[in-house]
Amino acid sequence: MYQHIFKPVYINGIKIPNRIVVPAMVTRLSGEDGYVNQDIINRYVKYATGNVGLIIVEAMAIHQSKSGPLLRISADKFIDGHRELTRAVHDSSDSKIMPQLIHFMKVARSGWRQTIDMLSEQDIRTIIDDFGQAAVRAREAGYDGIELHSAHAYTLSSFLSALNKRRDRYDGRTLEGRLRMFGDVMAVVRSKVGDDFPVGVRFVADEMIKDGYTLADSRLIALRMAQLGVDYISLSVGGKFEDAIKQDGLPPYPYTGYSGERCMPGANYPMMPHIHYAAAIKDMINSKGYDIPVISVGKINNPDDAEQLLTTGKADMIGMARQLLADPNWVKKVAAKRKDDIIHCVYCNVCKQLDENFKKVTCFLWPRNQLQAPDYNPAERPPVWDRDRPLTARYIDGTVKLEWQKARGDISGYDIYRAEDGGEINIIQAKKGGKYTDRSVLGGLKYHYYLRAYTKSGQASAPSNVVELDLPMEIFNA
Ligand SMILES: Cc1cc2nc3c(=O)[nH]c(=O)nc-3n(C[C@H](O)[C@H](O)[C@H](O)COP(=O)(O)O)c2cc1C
Repeated sequence: MYQHIFKPVYINGIKIPNRIVVPAMVTRLSGEDGYVNQDIINRYVKYATGNVGLIIVEAMAIHQSKSGPLLRISADKFIDGHRELTRAVHDSSDSKIMPQLIHFMKVARSGWRQTIDMLSEQDIRTIIDDFGQAAVRAREAGYDGIELHSAHAYTLSSFLSALNKRRDRYDGRTLEGRLRMFGDVMAVVRSKVGDDFPVGVRFVADEMIKDGYTLADSRLIALRMAQLGVDYISLSVGGKFEDAIKQDGLPPYPYTGYSGERCMPGANYPMMPHIHYAAAIKDMINSKGYDIPVISVGKINNPDDAEQLLTTGKADMIGMARQLLADPNWVKKVAAKRKDDIIHCVYCNVCKQLDENFKKVTCFLWPRNQLQAPDYNPAERPPVWDRDRPLTARYIDGTVKLEWQKARGDISGYDIYRAEDGGEINIIQAKKGGKYTDRSVLGGLKYHYYLRAYTKSGQASAPSNVVELDLPMEIFNA
């Protein structure tokens, strides 16, 4: 069972003990000073004790530019803090840890933002050198490799973009021109860290904006990155400034528009909406003889799905951001054949909103007011239902109203399971209290609902009673 998930993979000689990756996720746990602090260490140690194979530390700035709370690796004074972090992670398990190195441009509350066509040749040289120096600091700090952030709305991604307006060596009118900045950065970084240090990249497989590039180009971008010697490719989509929604008094933020929604698809999206990107990109680079790992991401959280993607060669590694935030012990639970104990992300995007508002990123599913995910205690007793039929459901005016009597035990929440017309059973929502209204039902179909109560470390009760509803079809009169 789950052979592929637990098959180690090598990234430039570094053994990653399993195929599960936590991609970079800004935590807002550091201060504006950008130093690693104890909260940051605690956050990443959770992933390590949960046995996540590869931990990518949130985007950290390689330059001094002002921003909200964000980690930095832009000067030697930051190295000690990062060393403490890598040590704490390495002391906790055989998880590997790499930082995501980011360069971003200036934005102002007025809505003005600097774009790459405003950069002089000297500015570009400085950015390239800053990447090189940050990579050296990362190596000195004990990281197992680095990831170059060439995704979303940030500087390197803007050079790759089909909307790149430069007309020089980095000419936005040709794919070759758009790729040159990454090539320059990669050459300097490699010369600084050496051939034996893993250098991965994250970029978007689809910009998800009008006139942006799509898979047609990203297949070729991936190929060039492989040719340039990157050691893994981590994919994302969207997250651009071009369609950001301006909020009064706030600088533009790249996750507020449609492309931002695609980057972190919420509950309204089907599961795994982006797996075809990794599959196509892997096909492309593999067919040209490159076998560096490709990481697939986007609403993947079921162990069977993850195993299937790996088995069928649609991905080499599986990225889970919000799911591992919700439950950093996912890997441990799957390994221990306790997948029932997994706390399931419901993609409510409370974490995304916290990030957007520069607030400390936590998960709605954690017990209230906790800064970190609860520890996993396999001996914790699952809740029990006191009554035979705790769950009731009524169909009222296009909605199904569920109500239930509380289970007994140390309850953290209730997962609501639903099957539509005899189909697959899915968790459609997680609630802390005893009520839920399902507004996405269609008359004429049959629905089954049941609940499971779970503790803070994830032990789930037996299913409640199953409620079956045969919804009447609405009648329309001429
Ligand atoms: C709170 C939050 C912060 C994020 N920060 C970063 C980041 O620093 N760098 C990055 O490349 N992606 C970032 N992402 C995107 C995630 O890495 C990931 O691609 C996205 O959430 C989709 O994966 P998922 O469905 O498994 O959550 C962030 C996502 C969230 C929810």
